[in-house]
Amino acid sequence: NKPEEQLPEIASNLSELRAQASACQRCPLHRDATQTVFGEGPADARVVFVGEQPGDHEDLAGRPFVGPAGRVFDEVIEEAGIEREKLYVTNAVKHFKFTPRGKRRLHQRPNVGEISACRWWVEQELSMVKPNLVVAMGATAAHSLLGQAIPVTQMRGQVVTRDDGLRVFLTIHPSFILRIQDQDEAKAERARFLTDMCAVAELA
Ligand code: URA
Repeated sequence: NKPEEQLPEIASNLSELRAQASACQRCPLHRDATQTVFGEGPADARVVFVGEQPGDHEDLAGRPFVGPAGRVFDEVIEEAGIEREKLYVTNAVKHFKFTPRGKRRLHQRPNVGEISACRWWVEQELSMVKPNLVVAMGATAAHSLLGQAIPVTQMRGQVVTRDDGLRVFLTIHPSFILRIQDQDEAKAERARFLTDMCAVAELA
């Protein structure tokens, strides 16, 4: 093969990109996941939200943020006056990574290699949607968007502008709220997430 024949095909719109991603084998995660969970939302969305990776529900449904973390996300953005239908919502990693435990599939964090491999898709989604603002929810999304490990709990609420001019708003992942055992603490963390989402509504 000549070198140019080995270059991946470049999609001209989001649906072509989605179709290409459905056959993605850039990292081993495609082997065990049910399907690629690509981003969804209007191609002219002003704001793009990026999560970590699909969870168990998303893997089965083929749509991002439709499980328990998605419910928290939906509720909080609604309280902040943000309409989900106007957002483009995606994940840093497009396949569910898990370890089987009996009948359950336990979420596993994607590693740096998997994040880097999937950045191919995230960056193309961004170059097609051309948002005003990108919201990185959690460390994996921040790592994918900024190319380095970011302490999101310390930097939450801040905007980092990339070299290409894209503004990245940093916040926590909604599943972080779900993992907090103490009710009062969880309530306080949800309120902080709401404050972040109100800031996003202002910035957008
Ligand atoms: N968590 C994520 O990061 N993304 C989803 O789509 C669902 C849960």
